[in-house]
Amino acid sequence: MRHLLTPLDLSVPELDRLLALAGEIAADPAAWRGACAGKKLATLFYEPSTRTRLSFEAAMLNLGGSVLGFSSADSSSVSKGETVADTIRIISCYADICAMRHPLEGAPFVAARFSGIPVINAGDGGHQHPTQTLTDLLTIRRRLGRLDHLTVGLCGDLKYGRTVHSLIAALSRYEGNRFVCISPEELRLPEELRHAVKDALVETAGLDAALPDLDLLYMTRIQRERFADPAVYQRLRGSYILTREKLAAAKPSMPVLHPLPRVDEIDPDVDGDPRAAYFEQAQNGVYARMALIVTLLGLAGAPLEERAKAVPTERPGLRCGAARCISGAEPVPPLFSPAPDGTLRCWYCGRPVAGENDPNRAI
Ligand code: NCD
Repeated sequence: MRHLLTPLDLSVPELDRLLALAGEIAADPAAWRGACAGKKLATLFYEPSTRTRLSFEAAMLNLGGSVLGFSSADSSSVSKGETVADTIRIISCYADICAMRHPLEGAPFVAARFSGIPVINAGDGGHQHPTQTLTDLLTIRRRLGRLDHLTVGLCGDLKYGRTVHSLIAALSRYEGNRFVCISPEELRLPEELRHAVKDALVETAGLDAALPDLDLLYMTRIQRERFADPAVYQRLRGSYILTREKLAAAKPSMPVLHPLPRVDEIDPDVDGDPRAAYFEQAQNGVYARMALIVTLLGLAGAPLEERAKAVPTERPGLRCGAARCISGAEPVPPLFSPAPDGTLRCWYCGRPVAGENDPNRAI
């Protein structure tokens, strides 16, 4: 059984096959009407969502399956204090596959350890959002015909934006991609990601100067709900606003992507420009999730490979310490695994083990 917790859970060939399948589904969605007959998808959403939850549900309904679940922590037993581990054990008795969104980083990783069914991470805190990445990659491929040798502009909240973290993780595995990260100083990409793409990374605060070089632009919302200090959010909101006038300096072929919802970072005037790809991106999200569901259930598509996974381990006396990590909130063993750069990472939230002066530290 395979889960999808980060885009790195899929090898590049698996990712390519999944996107090819999503393309086939997009060409003839009606042909897939019975593919998941008799199967159930549980959507476990502990945090608000419109697009992601409904597109998962639409995907399963399009495949002839059914859906069940909850759309806020208040309407589930979490409000009575139930742990993620217990919830997923129960859901495994009711459904064949599940998608989980949670405000704490690493919650779907906990679920995967205790689950009897495939778990899909539908967004965990400011950490990862792999199915948005499938959506983004499908849109890029359909617009530009390739996923390599691209100059990729990412603009806005790169610190808390989980869609950006997952997209960079996926695109950095394709040859020749460069990342132009456009953000205010306070919202730069987390250190561990900067380190992972260092030779392919340019950081800047200026959108206008960066625009002419970009092959695609990925705009994001400043993630208000993740700021500890509302005054900092108030200062940074409205940092970037893409308008038609600004777009005049960009390549005619440069698609503008946005995971949505937007606040004010893309002027509605841009919607009529042929480069605006964000509504088409939302449609592609349904096809990408249909392809993922049939593949994880083993009902269609190329079978996923057997993969030897690095086993995370406990380190005597060590805890993660990151403020938004599930391991600080629920009774799970603290687990760690080494990153390719040799640093030790929390297995749940992926952060390097926090030092005494780390602002991410819980206390
Ligand atoms: C994104 C998310 O939830 O991270 N939305 C989405 O899934 N389409 C982006 C955001 O909330 O800003």
